[in-house]
Amino acid sequence: MTFSKRLAAFATTLSLVASTGAAGQTVQMVVQAGDPKLQISKHIYGHFAEHLGRCIYGGFWVDEKLDVPKQGRIRMDVVEALRKIKVPNLRWPGGCFADTYHWRDGVGPTAQRPKMLNMWWGNNLEDNSFGTHEFLELCSLLGTEPYLAANVGSGTVQEMASWMEYLNSNDDTPLVLERRKNGHSEPYKVSWWGIGNESWGCGGNMTAQYYTDVYKRYATFAHSYPASPPLKKIVSGANGDDANWTETCMKNIPLNQMWGLTLHQYTLPTGSWSGSKGSATNFDEAQYFNTLKNCLKMEAVVTKHAAIMNKYDKDKKVALLVDEWGVWTDVEPGTNPGFLYQQNSLRDALVAGTTLNIFNNHCDRVRGANLAQAVNVLQAVILTDKEKMLLTPTYHVFDLYQVHQDSQYLPLQFTSPDYAVGSDKIPALNASASKDAKGAVHISLVNLDPHKMLKLETALAGVSWKNVTGRILTSGKINDYNTFDKPNTVKLASFAGAKKRGDKLAVELPPKSVVMLELK
Ligand code: AHR
Repeated sequence: MTFSKRLAAFATTLSLVASTGAAGQTVQMVVQAGDPKLQISKHIYGHFAEHLGRCIYGGFWVDEKLDVPKQGRIRMDVVEALRKIKVPNLRWPGGCFADTYHWRDGVGPTAQRPKMLNMWWGNNLEDNSFGTHEFLELCSLLGTEPYLAANVGSGTVQEMASWMEYLNSNDDTPLVLERRKNGHSEPYKVSWWGIGNESWGCGGNMTAQYYTDVYKRYATFAHSYPASPPLKKIVSGANGDDANWTETCMKNIPLNQMWGLTLHQYTLPTGSWSGSKGSATNFDEAQYFNTLKNCLKMEAVVTKHAAIMNKYDKDKKVALLVDEWGVWTDVEPGTNPGFLYQQNSLRDALVAGTTLNIFNNHCDRVRGANLAQAVNVLQAVILTDKEKMLLTPTYHVFDLYQVHQDSQYLPLQFTSPDYAVGSDKIPALNASASKDAKGAVHISLVNLDPHKMLKLETALAGVSWKNVTGRILTSGKINDYNTFDKPNTVKLASFAGAKKRGDKLAVELPPKSVVMLELK
């Protein structure tokens, strides 16, 4: 080595020492080539709209007199915002509500529809003005796949079978004639059908053994009509890490009778369903840390259920659908406790980015997921207040991550530094990557550490690229959030912290941030 080269190497070492002194070691990351056939299903980016609080009534479906753009009573500013993040599927009518819902009460002339009490959510009196046709019109405006949950808990096999015939057949049966009379001559072609919801709880408090028998009975009469695509029958799955539920479903239900199996896993800031779950915006660093630690449990939960499924379904034919996930906090002070209305801070965005990275990294089995819920409920992407509307930090994560939808999965290798609070620690960094149809590589990076910037040096196997650009979501404080008066406190910005250095990508990832990089 010549003197000048030695000097240059010494200078590099010095600058590395200087930078690692401030920000810790540089994380070495490798983006692998992966399997060209393995895609991140777009359905991982699905949403959920239950008859709960102000999600449907007052959210998607508003008063005729409300001064906002509308199609009929569907709120179009909400639709436009959701169209921008490409909602691949929308689950409806619940949730717990689904097992009390009788679809016939929500079709035909609105004035003649019976009212009903929403027994799960605040005993609200609903007029059934938003029913099947209205939901499917909403889906068509959103350009999204409808995902219906059939009533198994308090309904009948006949009721579910009739709903399928009403929607999907094109023969002149009385139900099809009724659909045509109600304004839709063509079949709706709804293929995603959940057979019950949380059948271990609000869906009927069944044992796993009993539910699998019930499921098979319902699935037998869930008929695919020639005028519509074959049904995707979805088994109501486990609560969190309940391995027995998944094992029993996989053992008892023949693989050809199920397209998917679900899982519900929420992030509770305190980790407990009893007592206060914690505030959505008023929290300290210890509560922030616990929330993220609880969110990271999704990795172990998905791994556990996937391993059970692998025993019975080696070819991974059955999709694991995490069709309810998200942060569940206390409701906003002064709001109806049954309406589950909560604010949404930068912490929620970090949970969303982390959870979506976990799903992407399990895309061989996780082929669908639904954030709970789309508007005004739990970890919503949109909040409304009469004619006002805001996009939450979580919305911006879905905006960033839409590039992963149906892209080729690229596995990542790295060891994350720790983020420690007291004697406890979690990995500070999580990430996932994909390559889109045009060959652009996208890497989503989340730094959970609220204090330390992370330095990354990334090698990409088998990818040639010239430029890197990026966008970032971060804010001054971990509990910053958007209000109707200040809707842009937490917003996306362009990111200049990534550079090409030789063949490698060098990134300086700010604390408490979600970043999406694009390499072309
Ligand atoms: O998303 C709110 C509720 O959480 C759903 O209705 C139910 O399925 C779950 O317990």
